[in-house]
Amino acid sequence: MSPSQFKQDKHKLLAIPGPIEVTDEVLEAISKPPISHVGPEFVTIFRESIFMTREVLFTQNGQVFIIAGSGTLGWDQVAANLVEPGEAVLVLHTGYFGDSFRDCLQTYGANVDEVKAEIGAGVDVAALEAALRRRSYKAVTFTHVDTSTGVLSDAKVRSASDGSYPQSRGGVGSI
Ligand SMILES: Cc1ncc(COP(=O)(O)O)c(C=O)c1O
Repeated sequence: MSPSQFKQDKHKLLAIPGPIEVTDEVLEAISKPPISHVGPEFVTIFRESIFMTREVLFTQNGQVFIIAGSGTLGWDQVAANLVEPGEAVLVLHTGYFGDSFRDCLQTYGANVDEVKAEIGAGVDVAALEAALRRRSYKAVTFTHVDTSTGVLSDAKVRSASDGSYPQSRGGVGSI
C-alpha cells in the first residue's frame, strides 16, 4: 500500500499527555521494517532527529539525548547520572509530578528540599530565591507543565533565578 493510501481506523480521540494521537504518515513510517542501528541509513536519520529535537528545545548546540523510554525514565537518568548520594537537590513542586521526581531522586540517595506552590499556582519566585540563598544545590528541578494541575512554570524566570545550577525541566505535557 502506498503511503498516501494508508488511513488509520476510526477511533476515539485520545486526549491525554501519555500515548498521543499520531498522523497516518507517522503510522505508515513506523510500519517499515527495522534498520540496523549502526548502519549508514540510521546515522542520517539519527543526525536529523538530533537537529529537529534541538529546534523543539530552542537550542543550537545543546547536547540532546533521544531516549527510547518513558518520562519516568527521563527522571531516572537525571537522578542516576547528575546527582551523587547525599548531594542536595531542590525540587520546585507544582503538583503530582513534583512528588514523583522527588521520590525518584530520594531513591538514588539525593538529599531533597522542596519549594511547594499552592495547588494550581506556580512556585513563588521569592521563595525560590530564598531557598537558593539558604543552601547550595547540585541541581534544581521543575516541571515545565505539571500535567496533574496544568500549571505552567516560566522557564526563563526559573533560569534567571540562578543560572549556575544544572536544571532539570520535566516537559511531558508542554512538549
Ligand atoms: C509532567 C509529566 N512528567 C512525567 C510524566 C511521566 O511520564 P511517563 O508516564 O511516560 O513515565 C508524565 C506523564 O503523564 C507527565 O505528565
